[in-house]
Amino acid sequence: MRTQVCIIGGGPSGLLLSQLLHRKGIDSIVLERKTRDYVLGRIRAGILETGFVELMREAGVGERMDRECFIHEGTVIAYGNEEFGISFREHSGRDVVVYGQTELTRDLYDAREAEGGKLVFNVEDVEIHDAGTGSPFVTYRVDGAEQRIDCDFVAGCDGFHGVSRQTIPLTVRREYEKVYPFGWLGILSETPPVHDELIYSWSERGFALCSMRNANLSRYYIQCSLSDSPADWSDAAFWEELKRRIPEAHADVLITGPSIEKSIAPLRSFVTEPMRWGRLFLCGDAAHIVPPTGAKGLNTAASDIHYLYHGLVQFYEERDAEGLDRYSEKALARIWKAERFSWATTNLLHRYPDQSEFDLKMQRAEIEFLRSSDAAQTVFAQNYVGLPY
Ligand code: APR
Ligand code: PHB
Repeated sequence: MRTQVCIIGGGPSGLLLSQLLHRKGIDSIVLERKTRDYVLGRIRAGILETGFVELMREAGVGERMDRECFIHEGTVIAYGNEEFGISFREHSGRDVVVYGQTELTRDLYDAREAEGGKLVFNVEDVEIHDAGTGSPFVTYRVDGAEQRIDCDFVAGCDGFHGVSRQTIPLTVRREYEKVYPFGWLGILSETPPVHDELIYSWSERGFALCSMRNANLSRYYIQCSLSDSPADWSDAAFWEELKRRIPEAHADVLITGPSIEKSIAPLRSFVTEPMRWGRLFLCGDAAHIVPPTGAKGLNTAASDIHYLYHGLVQFYEERDAEGLDRYSEKALARIWKAERFSWATTNLLHRYPDQSEFDLKMQRAEIEFLRSSDAAQTVFAQNYVGLPY
């Protein structure tokens, strides 16, 4: 089999790239290790920057998102029993869209299947060959049969644990990583959100986040020890701890209910350089990971896809490789800024095991400066809604 772009990974990155290319008449095939239902079963964030929203609309899959999403003009920062709002609209002129990653991934799958997209599920032993040459190919097994795809380019959209990044030789690849000494215990509950916008809360007991998916589906997180497991936390214990980490005004009106999903995610900052090797291009979690505090995971995947999509269109329509040649440089320039914001907000709002009293004073001073300074709120807002592509 032959295609123009072989995309490894059927998550948001791979599906969005495939759909965008399709609308430009560029052929691709998506190889996914799991099933569609498994991919859709993953619980992920859903804060979309303007850039992601515009890409979804350009891909022709923005209709349900535009109909069902929430528009958030700002967010709440809480510390102890204090809180203040940061208006994204006032400080950046833009908002963010709240629309679950599960839903946008579903919309992308529906569009690819409706438009005859080539999606192969349950693939095994994917290998990328000759990426450093002008004739790369990909082999894999499905239903026990060995398959081969010859292609012009390979898009590695296979996430942090995928095969693409590992294909780049260690003599070429440089990796940068920070592992945080805590995790996030998250639950999903079929309850109305405690507030109409998100609440990011610093407390003596640890970070908490109040988020949502829709008017009757809430997403809550509390910072937890890496030695915890979800089984250590009953629903009652989770709700009690969450209430102790957010201002009383919200704790008193929090509507609790049974968790329909409960999981712990570790926090990590990670970047690999370069994001291109020959005809192989890394996108999204395959190349970088951010702690979820800044809601950048999906949005950093979006800017990678933006740069790669435009580079591929420029190549096929103008036979000009300039966009592809600059892909890694342009993607990384924006990735590092998102990494900084995610790292900074994580440091601002979490309790570290080895924090001194002085460290706590520094955290509080920085939160209070953020509360009092238009300039600081402008910096926060511009980063949160998304820096320019
Ligand atoms: N072969 C084929 N598919 C693979 C392989 C492989 N060897 N390894 C992983 N995959 C698939 C995974 O099953 C997954 O569906 O690649 C997909 C990668 O999707 P994500 O991990 O969601 O990464 P990405 O598409 O870049 O989206 C980033 O997802 O994880 C969140 O927080 C992250 O919101 C961000 C977004
Ligand atoms: C979520 O709704 O899952 C979410 C929202 C904002 C974040 C992280 C996660 O910063």
